[in-house]
Amino acid sequence: MTAMLSLSQDHHHHLADLSRELLAKRRLILASNRGPVEYYMAENGAGLQCRRGSGGVVTALSSASQHVEVTWVASAMGEGDRIAAESAQGESLRPPIAGQNLVLRFVVSPRNVYHKYYNVLCNPLLWFLQHYMWNSPYTPNVGAAAYDAWVNGYVPVNEAFARAIVEEAQRDEMAPFVMLHDYHLYLTAGYVRQHLPRAVLQHFIHIPWPAAAYWQLLPSFMRHAICENLCSNDIVGLQSQRDVHNFLHTCESFLEGAEVDYRRRTLWHRGHLTTVNAYPISIDVDGIQRLLRTPRVREHEEKLRRLIREITLMRVDRVEPSKNIVRGFRAFDMFLERYPQFRGRLAFLAFLVPSRTRIRQYRQYMAEVNQIVSVINAKYGDENWQPITTFMENNYPQAIAAMSLYDVLLVNPVIDGMNLVAKEGPVVNRRHGVLILSETVGAYEQLGEYAISVAPADLEGTAQAIYTAITMSKEERRQRAENLRRIVFQEDIITWLCRQFEDLLALA
Ligand code: G6P
Repeated sequence: MTAMLSLSQDHHHHLADLSRELLAKRRLILASNRGPVEYYMAENGAGLQCRRGSGGVVTALSSASQHVEVTWVASAMGEGDRIAAESAQGESLRPPIAGQNLVLRFVVSPRNVYHKYYNVLCNPLLWFLQHYMWNSPYTPNVGAAAYDAWVNGYVPVNEAFARAIVEEAQRDEMAPFVMLHDYHLYLTAGYVRQHLPRAVLQHFIHIPWPAAAYWQLLPSFMRHAICENLCSNDIVGLQSQRDVHNFLHTCESFLEGAEVDYRRRTLWHRGHLTTVNAYPISIDVDGIQRLLRTPRVREHEEKLRRLIREITLMRVDRVEPSKNIVRGFRAFDMFLERYPQFRGRLAFLAFLVPSRTRIRQYRQYMAEVNQIVSVINAKYGDENWQPITTFMENNYPQAIAAMSLYDVLLVNPVIDGMNLVAKEGPVVNRRHGVLILSETVGAYEQLGEYAISVAPADLEGTAQAIYTAITMSKEERRQRAENLRRIVFQEDIITWLCRQFEDLLALA
């Protein structure tokens, strides 16, 4: 423990030094579609409130803004954000989040433009493509709606982000460091580069980068624009070496004249050099531990303790088809069928955050999740025991409190860029809980050795993994849990940031 503490202090000092050096040179501007907070109108008449946004980007980047001063450019996503942006009258906001050194600037797009960008192009098309979620003989069908969403959604929102970044940058003499995030903003760097030729631009992609052949499902003008604009960055960051390779090969395949050096991981295109690196993202270990000690989290923990049984299984996910929630419950069903001795002795608590609910596939998936939960509860439950309890809300403190209590955490996505739940769990858990981890998530490269591995479609294997996890000896549980914890402590969000800052500084 002492070793871990001093490791964490070393990380902090190193980051503090790097940040000082970085910020002495240029301002840091972060841009992502989802901002660090979402504003909403409180039902009790308390007016406009804000809570933390959900998903991996926010989890990781919120910690960045605790350590360095950033200007964060994000979309006004919901009505609350729009009201907040309007009341700020074009000025930046300073969201009241403890310890955050953050200026927030919303990009407000007309509702129909935002709808085309987010609900037609980014999520049903790009997200599905990058997670290999198409059933290619039948889907996708890139028709007039998708073409329209590209021209009248994706392009204008990317341009609007670029304008906001350029305006922010013009407040300083020195061209800034700009860190762009994820699949929503693939075109932004190209537009920023036209106006700020001396800016240092980096784009980090949080989701998998599939093989070039899969990108061919998209019309060539779209994939060409995506690759070309990404190559306006000085650095493109991805989660794993496999993603890096796929990215280089995709650009080589679709950009005429691109010169790729696979060994150095660089790409020359139209006289510009882009370096492509893997930076496996992580979590803010210290921040999470502080959160765990807050009265709010402790209250949740007390409440949740009443629900746990002799054995507690858990999952924490956005309700997202790539997270494989339905198969996870099917495997649980098979487990209860096969090992009736555990009925009544365990609780499966599922913390599920509703996500992208305006998109048909997500609504359908939510309905399937609810359905299988009711079927399992009806099949095995009685007046004294329900096998599964779901919590359908975006409540991060509650999820963190819950994860301190699991015996088994099931993380079985079909495919995932990293999956930060797999890293949060071992850090907050107090019961030497076992991690069941899909081989197809980015986190598997670091944590796989100490988790129980499952192939995401393998129902038999997943049911067996649940059995193995709950019958594991205390000693083995302890050893695995301690190793998982050690690995996350060693490579936390600060390591992730430092590696990128070092590379940015080298360029500046
Ligand atoms: C993933 C993506 C993020 C996204 C998050 C939540 O982590 O990589 O870019 O913000 O999911 O999704 P949402 O659509 O709700 O922002």
